[in-house]
Amino acid sequence: MVFSMCPRSKHYPVVIKMTAIVFVLFIFLLFISSCNHESNGKLVNSSTVHKIPEWFKDGKFGMFIHWGPYSVLGGEWNGKKLKQGENAEWIMNTFQIPVNEYRKIAKTFNPTGFNARQWVRLAKQTGMKYLVITSKHHDGFAMYHSHVSDYNIVDYTPFKRDPLKEIAEACAEEGIKFCVYYSHREDWEQPYAYGNTWDFDSSQTNLDVMDHPELFRKYLDRKVIPQLKELLTGYGPVGLVWFDRGMYTQEQGMEFVNLVHSLQPECLVNGRVGHYDKELLGDYQSMTDNGMPIGGIEEYWETPQTLNDTWGYSKNDQHWKRPEDIIKRLVSIVSNGGNYLLNIGPTGEGIIPDSSLSILAEVGKWMQKNSESIYGASPSPFPYEMPWGYCTRKDNLLYLHIFNWPKDGTIKLKGLNNKIKRSYMLVKPSEELSFNKQDGWLIRLPKEAVDPVNSVLVVETDGEPDVDPMIVKQLKNEPVLLDYLSASTHGRAVKRFNRKGETGNFHISKMQGPDDYIEWHVEVTTPGIYKVDITYAAIPGWENADYLVDSGKEKIKASVKSTTGWYEYKTERIGEFTLKKTGEYVFRIYPGHETDHYLMYFNSIKLVPAP
Ligand code: GLC
Repeated sequence: MVFSMCPRSKHYPVVIKMTAIVFVLFIFLLFISSCNHESNGKLVNSSTVHKIPEWFKDGKFGMFIHWGPYSVLGGEWNGKKLKQGENAEWIMNTFQIPVNEYRKIAKTFNPTGFNARQWVRLAKQTGMKYLVITSKHHDGFAMYHSHVSDYNIVDYTPFKRDPLKEIAEACAEEGIKFCVYYSHREDWEQPYAYGNTWDFDSSQTNLDVMDHPELFRKYLDRKVIPQLKELLTGYGPVGLVWFDRGMYTQEQGMEFVNLVHSLQPECLVNGRVGHYDKELLGDYQSMTDNGMPIGGIEEYWETPQTLNDTWGYSKNDQHWKRPEDIIKRLVSIVSNGGNYLLNIGPTGEGIIPDSSLSILAEVGKWMQKNSESIYGASPSPFPYEMPWGYCTRKDNLLYLHIFNWPKDGTIKLKGLNNKIKRSYMLVKPSEELSFNKQDGWLIRLPKEAVDPVNSVLVVETDGEPDVDPMIVKQLKNEPVLLDYLSASTHGRAVKRFNRKGETGNFHISKMQGPDDYIEWHVEVTTPGIYKVDITYAAIPGWENADYLVDSGKEKIKASVKSTTGWYEYKTERIGEFTLKKTGEYVFRIYPGHETDHYLMYFNSIKLVPAP
């Protein structure tokens, strides 16, 4: 920088050379740092997680669209029907429809009822801020004009139009972020991709792709990468790319993260891009399908959810959620710090089913009056669940979402140490409600709920809400469990989601030094000696780092043992505490010294009364 400011100096050529060297070095370092995400347990992912943009953080609510040749079948093929709960976009796999048969179905795909503007307006009227549409699902069919293969909606069908282009344009006009889903590992049309074991010669598909990475590589190089390039260069700004079903290796996952960011630096990558059992790649975490975390995850997350029980259109699945269920899910998700990506499955004619339209219309009506409590809101500051509903927050405003109108006409807020300045129903800001303090704040509600589903009460506090921490109450003589739900995290420690297992799991990690600690407040009712069992996972390379478990009176020093793999939790007894008196104790765990890797994936500590 300094050099290039004096271009006319006589050292000009030297300056250029030096600048070039510095630049090359910079690129090299950038490359090294982005490759180093996993090796030897050092430097973990954080370089890949870039800033979450406002549209995503504040928007909270997005529309997912699953649409493709499977929509023509609507869950039925050759006289066979999918069972309730089976995903209609999986029909090719479920009935093992040969590629050639499925191609014939794709040939008939002619969604003349499709109207991009209507779909985008539907998202907008429902209060959604972004839209994610399947550009290629597992069946391998491109829903846009791809030049990589003619197996796409423009070249392969009588429809001849590019719906993604039309949707991208409508999104730009309506102020909705345009985003694409892309199935990168799974492709049932491709012999070298993952998934189609019924069609292709087993020497190609059934083989363990890890044993023949060069074949899988061919698929990536010939189809996936060129198609992603098309999507990221031909459709204007893309808000995010929604990858699915994970990858074989972290390196491959990283390749996609880098590809997206290099073509569109602002574009987000969801958390399903990398290996499911390893450290998160991508910019935010994707919950499992329809996943509803009960505790506050402290990294940004999104949960993809269905309106009935399937993503793609099914004639037979009438198991629709009610509008009130959707509103409840939305509020619960936002109060836990996440985004709600809600799916619709249009038909093969391009029509959105009436039931979906009427559910979304109701949700839209609620959003129209109450979206202030959703957009830009941060999670509930309260560490406990509310009997009447959920809490979201914006600065000094608490939004109390009342789903169960209390019979005694009062809302009780425990553990809020601030003074309340004002309280009113969101839809009636001029009618102030009365409140007073007893062992908590009592706010007197209007006689009747102001909304049939969720009436939002606003409580304005004097300054940042200051809320008591959660207290874990010991049942007499029982063990005490200290887990992520009852913990508070400090420094770099964060509560996180991981995809290990069917339903995923939660842990606390990113602790790298003594100031990164996890804390619990515990009310001990039975004094005595307690054995201390800790459950955690640590990958090879993380062993021998010291950590301390502190009861406020005593400290146990222990060192990390590798547990063979990512999120392979093991339990170990590390010592004992003598808790002499009943009453409140503060327990903490933290690294003994600075490390260049995370201490562990912490799961829980159990205090077990000694016999
Ligand atoms: C699953 C399914 C897929 C669907 C996705 C949505 O991974 O395989 O069909 O698109 O979930 O979250």
